[in-house]
Amino acid sequence: MTTKPRRIRKAVFPVAGLGTRFLPATKAMPKEMLTVVDRPVIQHVVDEARAAGIEHFVFVTGRNKGVIEDHFDKQFELERTLAERGKEKELDSLRRDLPGAGQTSFTRQQSANGLGHAVWCARDLVGNEPFALLLPDMLHFSERPCLADMMDAYSETGGNLIGVKAVPEDQTQNYGIVGVEDPSDQVSKIHTMVEKPKRGTAPSNLHITGRYILQPEIFGLLEKQKPGAGNEIQLTDAMLGLLEQSEQTFHAVRFDGDLYDCGSKLGFLMANVAYGLTRDGLGDEFREELKSYIDREGLTG
Ligand code: G1P
Repeated sequence: MTTKPRRIRKAVFPVAGLGTRFLPATKAMPKEMLTVVDRPVIQHVVDEARAAGIEHFVFVTGRNKGVIEDHFDKQFELERTLAERGKEKELDSLRRDLPGAGQTSFTRQQSANGLGHAVWCARDLVGNEPFALLLPDMLHFSERPCLADMMDAYSETGGNLIGVKAVPEDQTQNYGIVGVEDPSDQVSKIHTMVEKPKRGTAPSNLHITGRYILQPEIFGLLEKQKPGAGNEIQLTDAMLGLLEQSEQTFHAVRFDGDLYDCGSKLGFLMANVAYGLTRDGLGDEFREELKSYIDREGLTG
């Protein structure tokens, strides 16, 4: 049985992670506030959710993350100064980016017990309705936002959906991996999934990219979920439980754009290149500079 599609209004963003891979940059600043070109990573992900029609943004934060809350608030003094100086363009863009009054909620994950636990912390703020979940480290770079494609698929399939993309076989142990009925389909029914499978045991090479549409029944499973890989409460384990113990469906939606893992230095640097090259008023000049840098350094081999 497929759960009849109900509108997805809310999105959850787990932003409690410590960002140890970016120390010392993240000593006093959340890793989600590192900038790709001129927008914090978390802003890019919120942009994706808004473009897909999300109306309410639920952040699961932690200690030292207060600046994320400030970022999604009005900065009265800044706006007044910009207005006084006639900086209309900057003012407009600040206003455009800001979710409306009452459209953000914040809760705290009090201890680092894993992604499943972070999602569970949002249960009261989400309530009894389906929701989107976006992992902020993963920037999905494409013309059409990944979550928008998933929303389209959801209107056909209902139930639960997971964004996936193929990875080289020797990297499957780093991710959540799904097994699907037909890997060549853009949208395919999931029959199994596993978090960080041991080498050689993955059911496919399709990894979970960090975009989900989930039914609220997941919270009941997360509440009872025992720690899994890395001794953390894993979302993938609870999703597998929901798949096996209920009549709910899970579909994989293949993401064909480029993925940048901004939780890693390399992914973060490449994201800056990709977003920089396509940014209006910057891309052309950046391309020229990059080309001459590559020539100068002999990087073309
Ligand atoms: C999390 C998820 C995993 C997913 C990955 C994407 O893992 O648990 O299923 O493939 O994000 O980045 P983490 O990166 O937190 O270990």
